[in-house]
Amino acid sequence: MLPPVIAPSILSADFSKLAEEVRAVDEAGADWIHLDVMDGHFVPNITFGPPVVKALRPHSAKFFDCHLMIAPADPYLAAFAQAGADGITVHAEAGPHIHRSLQTIRDLGKRAGIAINPGTPASMVEPLLDMADLVLVMTVNPGFGGQSFIRSTLETIARVRTMVAGRDIRLQVDGGIDPETVRLASRAGADTFVAGNAVFSGGPGAYAERIATIREGA
Ligand code: DX5
Ligand code: ZN
Repeated sequence: MLPPVIAPSILSADFSKLAEEVRAVDEAGADWIHLDVMDGHFVPNITFGPPVVKALRPHSAKFFDCHLMIAPADPYLAAFAQAGADGITVHAEAGPHIHRSLQTIRDLGKRAGIAINPGTPASMVEPLLDMADLVLVMTVNPGFGGQSFIRSTLETIARVRTMVAGRDIRLQVDGGIDPETVRLASRAGADTFVAGNAVFSGGPGAYAERIATIREGA
């Protein structure tokens, strides 16, 4: 297994001072910065696009993990790469040509991620593994921070773990990760943990402790 990665999701940060928030979680020990991009179409919420990623880029040298909850994704991949994304994750449910999207991300020189919603079977990612650097198993229905971890996703995580055995592919979980559920997800086989509410709800003074606590369970 790869060493665990903790990726705070800035969806739960104070949007009126995003740069400060990114710097704060970077200094508090975040391994990656998780950036949730939503279009009000693939998911029922809207966040931000490439200009915000670009504006945040100078504020941290950490891996920028861009989770695209948008359909279609292909017309925007180059813009996210140019804005400073290090990894770009697209949803298997977001279009008919996900293999092409992953290829495009790699051609742009970025790490390619494939995400599946809680209602999507693990088998969906199997034909795509040669093209993927990361598989994201959503542990809530995407769209909002602060939702409860869906326990039936543990089986999907375990199935994906078997599929990626021996490959250099990260297995990420996202949604409802807290000091308790991080243990369940880790035991099932996840190695990369997104946490929004569990990190940001304590305010900047608590970020380091919150990240450390999640890392203990990872
Ligand atoms: C959900 C987003 C997540 C979200 C996680 O649609 O993809 O990254 O911010 O937030 P928490 O950890 O609060 O569930
Ligand atoms: Zn996310």
